[in-house]
Amino acid sequence: MKKEIVVSGIRSTGYLHLGNYFGAIQNYVKMQDAHECYFFVADYHSLTTHPDPKDLKKNVYRVVAENVASGLDPEKVALYAQSDLPEIPELYLMLNMLAYMGELEKVPTFKDKVRLQPDNVNAGLLTYPVLMAADILIHRAVKVPVGKDQEQHLEMARNFANRFNGRYGTDFFPEPQVYRFNNDTVKIMSLDGNGKMSKSENVNATIYLSDDDDTIRKKIMKAKTDQGPTVPNAEMPDYISNLFLLLQLTASPDITAHYTSAYNNCNIRYGDMKKQLAEDMAAFVKPIREHAAALQQDEQTIKRILKDGAEKARISSRATIEEARKLIGINYYQ
Ligand code: TRP
Repeated sequence: MKKEIVVSGIRSTGYLHLGNYFGAIQNYVKMQDAHECYFFVADYHSLTTHPDPKDLKKNVYRVVAENVASGLDPEKVALYAQSDLPEIPELYLMLNMLAYMGELEKVPTFKDKVRLQPDNVNAGLLTYPVLMAADILIHRAVKVPVGKDQEQHLEMARNFANRFNGRYGTDFFPEPQVYRFNNDTVKIMSLDGNGKMSKSENVNATIYLSDDDDTIRKKIMKAKTDQGPTVPNAEMPDYISNLFLLLQLTASPDITAHYTSAYNNCNIRYGDMKKQLAEDMAAFVKPIREHAAALQQDEQTIKRILKDGAEKARISSRATIEEARKLIGINYYQ
């Protein structure tokens, strides 16, 4: 039986943190055996904010290294740079003819950008959802593992797929669906108790996969706590249950059990718990950080991963674009 096709794009800006690791990458890793996976670094998308040319390569290499160090296997998935598939911008151009100004202007992420960077409201920002649709439809993917903030973009990708199918009298593009992980997607909160770690603007309340042991210790020791519960078996405030979640994800079960019962008995000492968590977290991140750092130094390996990934991905992107051209009527030499 043919495996279901999965696509997801990874932003090339910013460092990976625990929210990304437990919320996204671990799920990619779980999918890589049972699905035909295409995971790519969304470097074209990053151009909307005009990054310094000398940073681009470093950022792309870092994303590749951090994802591989987190368990993504380039032998099992196609891991590539978006800009290595010329078929993506070609499909993007085709889809742009089916996308309407009105609907693009209404997208909440676009409106946010207009508000946040009024001096750079470029057409690439406006057509960001079209490029994202091209990323997905180029492999005729049916599943797209993304967070809630990307759902509207996915709906637009379905609209563009249907519009293409309707216009050219075909069922060529399947409707891509948001892929949810059994509802138990792990959500890590920021250590200061303000929102998700993935949304955090506060680098001191976010643990990055590149943080060294001491940085991790410092951040954990500063995590928000309170006076502790005053009645047995009290409900935990979210910033406390977040610390328990982190403990559960990184420490041995008896340690979590110990602090849980201390909490329930109202004799928990958060200082001790944080010290414990700091050690377990540091030990957890260390091998990922070291593997990622070693890979980033090993440019030959990164280049090979990207080249092999692009080669794999282009088998499918070429087939799609060839058929899309035919359907549109661009077939002058046959
Ligand atoms: N827009 C996504 C984000 O901000 C990244 C992305 C680009 C993507 N193209 C994609 C995700 C295609 C899934 C599929 O996280």
